[in-house]
Amino acid sequence: MKRWFAVIGDPIAHSKSPAMHNGWFDELNIDATYIPIHVKSEQLEQAIASLKTLGASGWNVTIPHKQAIIPFLDELDEMAEKMGAVNTVVRTADGKLKGYNTDGPGFVHSLEEAVGDGQKEKSVLLIGAGGAARGIAFALQFYGYRNLTITNRTVAKAEEIIRELGEGQALSLAEAEQRLDEFGIIIQCTSAGLANGEFSLPLSLEKLQQGTIVADIVYNPLMTPFLLEAQKKDAIVVTGLGMFVHQGAIAFNHWLGQYPNTEHTTKKLIDELQVTTC
Ligand code: ATR
Repeated sequence: MKRWFAVIGDPIAHSKSPAMHNGWFDELNIDATYIPIHVKSEQLEQAIASLKTLGASGWNVTIPHKQAIIPFLDELDEMAEKMGAVNTVVRTADGKLKGYNTDGPGFVHSLEEAVGDGQKEKSVLLIGAGGAARGIAFALQFYGYRNLTITNRTVAKAEEIIRELGEGQALSLAEAEQRLDEFGIIIQCTSAGLANGEFSLPLSLEKLQQGTIVADIVYNPLMTPFLLEAQKKDAIVVTGLGMFVHQGAIAFNHWLGQYPNTEHTTKKLIDELQVTTC
């Protein structure tokens, strides 16, 4: 019987996940399909019951349901539990629903795909302390990056994540700006500059050292104002697209036990994004 998967969220129409997963099913000759389903917050419980009844093998969860879905699941993977957010649900062989979070691990896979996995001793600066930054902070720690600093407009939120991690330091944006030359990897996880085409950086890159690895989690546009500024200072830039592709690939692997070809998918998405953003 054909298996089926889904992504639930609000809004959902612009999700690139269906094309990506259906492409992988075709490439790997897997008899399955993946569909987007528009689910509003007040419909979440009913939507999960329907996904179960109708036999979905698993699904992705996007904004605004990543935290709200947790009470409806039977089990959580260790990292999803720490992060307090789920983006992937697996229907296990005994019909139970298990939640995972592949966003943070997706970022680490993408970083290591771009610059190798020999950077774990470097001092990492994470800018932002919202849901995305939180997931990346826990994943970095899990994969052995132990030298972590978090800076955020609201410093108390950065301090809270550091407290939960049990290691690292929190800084104000002004302090981080002054000490920018101390970091070997800088990761932009805020939504600064996303609204209404406004151009703003969460902090100045004046003190950025040449050769620093600078990543952004936003992938549309592919080269964000933050990455463009970093590129001018000869940083090694890592776009947010890899994180998106790898969070999907890790979810796919949880469902089907196979890691799909991410290189090919990334190239296809880069072409699409360049066409749609020009
Ligand atoms: P997400 O789930 O994408 O992480 P979020 O939880 O709303 O979204 O978090 C947004 C992040 O962007 C926060 O770190 C926020 O800073 P505050 O915690 O101080 O609100 C940060 N952010 C948003 N706009 C910003 C701006 N103009 N300058 C600096 N940081 C900004």
